[in-house]
Amino acid sequence: MKNTPVDYQTARKVIEGYGLPDFGKATIREVVAISNQLEQLTKTEFIHMEMGVPGLPAAKVGVEAEIKALQAGAASIYPNINGLPELKEEASRFIKAFINIDVAAEGCVPVTGSMQGTYASFLVSGQCTPGKDTILFIDPGFPVQKQQIAVMGYKYESFDVYECRGKKLREVLESYLSKGNIASMIYSNPNNPAWFCLTEEELQIIGEMANKYDVIVIEDLAYFAMDFRKPLGVPFEAPYQATVARYTDNYVLQISGSKAFSYAGQRIGVTAISNKLYHRSYPGLTQRYGGGTFGTVYIHRVLYALSSGTSHSAQYALAAMFKAASDGSFDFVSDVKEYGRRAAKLKKIFTDYGFTIVYDQDLSEPIADGFYFTIGYPGMTGSELMEELMFYGISAISLSTTGSNQQGLRACTSFIKDHQYALLEERLKIFKANRAHN
Ligand SMILES: Cc1ncc(COP(=O)(O)O)c(C=O)c1O
Repeated sequence: MKNTPVDYQTARKVIEGYGLPDFGKATIREVVAISNQLEQLTKTEFIHMEMGVPGLPAAKVGVEAEIKALQAGAASIYPNINGLPELKEEASRFIKAFINIDVAAEGCVPVTGSMQGTYASFLVSGQCTPGKDTILFIDPGFPVQKQQIAVMGYKYESFDVYECRGKKLREVLESYLSKGNIASMIYSNPNNPAWFCLTEEELQIIGEMANKYDVIVIEDLAYFAMDFRKPLGVPFEAPYQATVARYTDNYVLQISGSKAFSYAGQRIGVTAISNKLYHRSYPGLTQRYGGGTFGTVYIHRVLYALSSGTSHSAQYALAAMFKAASDGSFDFVSDVKEYGRRAAKLKKIFTDYGFTIVYDQDLSEPIADGFYFTIGYPGMTGSELMEELMFYGISAISLSTTGSNQQGLRACTSFIKDHQYALLEERLKIFKANRAHN
């Protein structure tokens, strides 16, 4: 029996109790349940790196605006389905200030988080053109989005971009898009789970392919401006958040309040539909709805049917946060840089004890330090590593749940507490010693 920080027998029993045929396929919720149960049973502190939940306080400017809106009576009134005019204007201005692209206020639509934004975007894009009924995932990606596809009964295809960064991306995209069945493609940038950032060249390739095959790009900016290698937090000044919008008009951007403003609890974000796409009609939409354009169907048919708009007070909060950021009075990027500092320390500890960073490069440049990073251990599959680390009180999710073909884990920095760096080091020392005796 191994000498591990979490009692070996207890951990074995608890894990087996979940009856998972492949531990690497455990969902985030299952990993949370197992680690919490073990923590309670064995009274051993866990280093939780499985959940992608913001670990910082919500932006004050948002909370104050929301309280004010509630006190002024926002709660009793249905919000305008198009979105609060102030929010639409401020979203358009924020996009100009930090991405340097022009999206009219009309196309900036509040949603109950990017979760709803992607759901509605998948749904509408899949209804536009008969025969274009499949969503392409540029993976690794956020597992819940595939769940959305399953809920809708849609089809998807996917590939791991690890093997085809740079120029190679064109050939791979060509092979998928040329079949003619792809309605839209999605990726997150910075990437959840791997934290790589697609380069300008890669975004240009995606944009050009979208134009060539008339495919809609859903660009998920859940980690807006969080490529901390660049100073992206100065409004109306370069450098700007990278985007495919510089290379195509066929885009929908998802901008979330959850991570950039630590506002996840209020479920608020904005879908920004390009001016051209907003006004474009499609045969499939006309047939199904009797008329409408991508933008009007998105809002007046789909969002109306899904939730009849977005929480009224949260819209005031997001409007205030966008405004303060664009005015330069709220440096939201500095606030979230804490995740980058944590990642740098954690990555050093893991690599000191023999781990590797799985997705480590953006072509020739090392990836940024941020919300997530990926780790592997020589000779171990992601599933084995995930299970093994449980015995050391370290929980993370396997990359196999994210559409990645690589062996390793996604680690999230958001729940790390100051005293846990020393704890991690202590645990990994034992891990390494135990591996050496294997
Ligand atoms: C890539 C990605 N997209 C979307 C979301 C969900 O964002 P929201 O809270 O705005 O629904 C997350 C949250 O973890 C994410 O990582």
